[in-house]
Amino acid sequence: MCGIVGYIGKQKASPILLEGLKRLEYRGYDSAGMAIADGENNFLVKAVGRVANLENKIGEKKILGTVGIAHTRWATHGKPSDQNSHPHQDCTGKISLVHNGIIENYRELKKELQAKGHKFKSETDSEVAAHLIEEFNKKMNFETAVLETLKKIKGTYGLAIINREEPDKIIVARNGSPLVIGVGAGEYVIASDVSAIIRHTPQVIYLDDGEVAVIKKDGHQIKTINNEAKNKKITKLDWDLERAEKQGYPHFMLKEIFDQPASVEDAIRGRMLLAEGLAKLGGLQTVSEKLRKIEKIIIVSCGTSYHAGLVGEYMIEEYAGIPVEVEYASEFRYRKPIINSRTAVIAISQSGETADTLAAIREAKEKGALTLGIVNVVGSTIARETDAGVYNHAGPEIGVASTKAFTSQLSILVLLTLTLGRQRDMSLVTGQRIIKELRRIPKLIQSILDEKDQIKKIAKKYHGYEDFLYLGRKYNFPIAFEGALKIKEISYVHAEGYATGEMKHGPIALIDKNFPSVFLAPKDSVYEKTISGMQEIKARGGKIIAIATKGDKEIAKIADDVIYIPKTLEMLTPLLAVVPLQLLAYYVGTAKGFDVDKPRNLAKSVTVE
Ligand code: M6R
Repeated sequence: MCGIVGYIGKQKASPILLEGLKRLEYRGYDSAGMAIADGENNFLVKAVGRVANLENKIGEKKILGTVGIAHTRWATHGKPSDQNSHPHQDCTGKISLVHNGIIENYRELKKELQAKGHKFKSETDSEVAAHLIEEFNKKMNFETAVLETLKKIKGTYGLAIINREEPDKIIVARNGSPLVIGVGAGEYVIASDVSAIIRHTPQVIYLDDGEVAVIKKDGHQIKTINNEAKNKKITKLDWDLERAEKQGYPHFMLKEIFDQPASVEDAIRGRMLLAEGLAKLGGLQTVSEKLRKIEKIIIVSCGTSYHAGLVGEYMIEEYAGIPVEVEYASEFRYRKPIINSRTAVIAISQSGETADTLAAIREAKEKGALTLGIVNVVGSTIARETDAGVYNHAGPEIGVASTKAFTSQLSILVLLTLTLGRQRDMSLVTGQRIIKELRRIPKLIQSILDEKDQIKKIAKKYHGYEDFLYLGRKYNFPIAFEGALKIKEISYVHAEGYATGEMKHGPIALIDKNFPSVFLAPKDSVYEKTISGMQEIKARGGKIIAIATKGDKEIAKIADDVIYIPKTLEMLTPLLAVVPLQLLAYYVGTAKGFDVDKPRNLAKSVTVE
């Protein structure tokens, strides 16, 4: 949520900052802004809306400075407007800063500062930080003023600060919102995530909570807010910039849907031993013995990652016999979860930065649980704070609607189920059957993608409807949730995900000819019951789109439209069934003319609670 980028070095800062903002735009796109400090020619520009608006505003202006900061905003305090856009400045315009997070005590601080004569220009929480630095800077040097400010602030922040009078440095600080420092030769690029850094350097330092860095073009110093020096290691990123480009697709979302044969392959490659019927998850090696003794699992996650967790619950309970609870991370802390040292709490998160999930994992650690992560972004906070974990290897996911991260999460949950199951009662033959079938999944996903034109046609037929009911049972019950989430977030239509069996307990009252239902109806152990549900809808004049198993001719007699998926093991059907729903949402969204990569009001990683 909100993207921050900063540059200090020998090159002109503004093109680097603009390019970085474009890469971070998925974190928020309510407004954007930039400040460049080069002594006399200071420059500050802001624009409501997309980074492109900022770029147009900058136009042909000559901005020579080699030190600067920039921001793309997801509004929390104050509506999207020029005044509320970052960077924010102190009264004199000397200090400029960009902020991601929430300063919880900003009201008191603002009042105190106003009483001392400070004039505020915005409604944001962030602006208080600039005025506080100004206030402290009257009595102490700039660096100490920043440290004193950080001590006064309560809440979360990723901050980058520049000072017109000391244009040889950027100061950055982190507490609860991500901040990465890219270390180049005679230059630094700092950003909320590595996507804005990788083009310049693969060498990065992940700042931890409570850390501050003073960055000059030829060196950096990292310290705590209490001014104690810290030695941090530089990590080399293993990222391919190509994978973060659209590669000819009109949207990242479509590209990422089509990435799935490869991203599922990448999630499972080298992680299965067929002869032994085992999964080989290197990241769990150190906790292997603890996993053998685990008696309960709690999965914490949000949004799409939560839906992956629900599928994981069915898999692990059926094949490993361990009780699993799946909890919205945002609710986890408000319950009194029963946790002991034989409980594993698994965080599933694409970004590895979701504030609610991070807070849940911290709470679980506090209570003595073994914490594990299933995370896509390497080096992200959740990946670093969990005891052990598995990376998705899905590559950068830029589209705000999560697609390939979901199928890679499901693939890893299959591997985790194998690991836990084979440590317990799962037979060699079952383990081998799962592995053999999992290996076929990338090819099977490709065969669904090859039918995209049929799904596009169905989307065209239904894109005028304003309500949808998504229904699924057992393994595909969470896929009903996921299908509904996908279409509502990018097409702005009302969609509800329900367990098929629950439909007759209420939602069926909604059904008429204007309220179509999307049924997850593969030939699985609950097929007959699913068909009964379809008949109930049919009898009430409701239209039906069915996701069914190839060769199922009967279903075409009930449903108005059928999208076929190949036959696979029941536990793996979610990996296939979700793909047509992603495409359906994509084509409905684009048929309505929406920017599906950047749906309104959303941001890719939600780093505020
Ligand atoms: O990065 P995370 O997986 O932790 O993000 C969780 C949710 O914010 C995310 O899945 C969100 O629901 C997506 N927009 C869904 O498409």
